[in-house]
Amino acid sequence: MNNRIAVVPGSFDPPTLGHLDVIRRAAALYDELHVLVVHNPGKKAMLPIAQRLTLLEQSIAEADIAGRVIVASWSVGLLVDYAQDVDAGVLVKGIRSQIDVAYETPMAIVNRHLADIETVFLLPDPSHALVSSSLVRQVAGLGGDVSPFVPAPVARFLDTGVRGN
Ligand code: PNS
Repeated sequence: MNNRIAVVPGSFDPPTLGHLDVIRRAAALYDELHVLVVHNPGKKAMLPIAQRLTLLEQSIAEADIAGRVIVASWSVGLLVDYAQDVDAGVLVKGIRSQIDVAYETPMAIVNRHLADIETVFLLPDPSHALVSSSLVRQVAGLGGDVSPFVPAPVARFLDTGVRGN
């Protein structure tokens, strides 16, 4: 496995400014970055996977992120199977708080056990510390303005796509 190739996995339902910040930081650290939309069976989805892919691609393009970034999805097996398919040696996760550390640590240990793959935790800018996809889903679903929390393409889509106006 190649430690210059990394995967940033997540539900991205929807992508937030915090996600984009982690993607930008990771893209600067690795030669090739795979941003991977993974179905999380533990969460009730708002957006279909294809829509999340489109929004991620548009957001990454608009943010003018330097580096080789590939957007893909994975729903047929373990995350580490995808990592092995693309020869990635690193998983990257954003950590906002101790709650994220507690949530991510068991997954990192399991992924290392499964495939001897390392997980690297990156700290997003503190301005994104309180942003989560679940809050964005709730605010958007109730008709609130989510534009301070998400990339412009996501805000545009949620304004029309979810609220239907
Ligand atoms: O954005 P999320 O929902 O916190 O991301 C969690 C995700 C999708 C990365 C995690 O659920 C995952 O890795 N799922 C893939 C299935 C898998 O490989 N599970 C075993 C290792 S945790």
